[in-house]
Amino acid sequence: MNAATDKVMETSLMQRLKQETAFLHDRMEELMAQAEVFENKDNYRQFTLSQYYFQKDVEHLYEDSQVQQLIPDLDVRGRSEAALQDLADLGIKPALSTIATESVQYPQSLGWIYVSEGSTLGAAFLFKAAQEKFGYSADFAARNLAAYPEGRAIVWKRFKQTLDDANFSQQDQQLIIEGAMQGFHRFGELLSQLKELK
Ligand code: HEM
Repeated sequence: MNAATDKVMETSLMQRLKQETAFLHDRMEELMAQAEVFENKDNYRQFTLSQYYFQKDVEHLYEDSQVQQLIPDLDVRGRSEAALQDLADLGIKPALSTIATESVQYPQSLGWIYVSEGSTLGAAFLFKAAQEKFGYSADFAARNLAAYPEGRAIVWKRFKQTLDDANFSQQDQQLIIEGAMQGFHRFGELLSQLKELK
């Protein structure tokens, strides 16, 4: 075994996910800046639509029994319902019902869920901006950006622990990382076509 292999084996799945998708996270931040989400309420509404569609994609994956067995606290996760209520506050109903994850299998699905759970961390900044800019809150129009009742950090830490404790093989880790890349791409796609979303 050489030093490079040792290094791969020492790196946990969560470290790998963070490192190997960092460039896609950077792209998300760029797309978010381009979308000028807080420039006006129309942009914010379109962004909320993208959040809703992405959450629907991710929550579809919760229906799988392997996902349910691995992540016992799925019921506290997921924000599509909150996003739907936000959209109602903002005066719209989503027009589409297509799901981008129909053919996503376990364990790739865990990569998608990683993207969704990780995005709750950055959402702290977005929540603050929605409050400051528009006066939105956890009870009106920004529910989907609010922290989970237990707090963002605790729920994130528990998710990370669950994935690392599962001791996935290198092959499965690769599939999970691919799933995360698909998830980032999907959200990037939604952000890129924000103005056309219905
Ligand atoms: C303005 C936009 C965004 C900002 C400012 C932002 C900021 C952050 C911050 C501060 C963290 C925590 C980093 C840490 O504690 O180490 C984070 C983590 C993360 N964010 Fe974002 N984010 C943004 C958008 C997004 C989007 C759109 C997604 C995906 C849909 C996303 C997915 C993630 C993921 C998966 C993590 C976890 C990284 C890890 O493995 O530790 N973020 N983000």
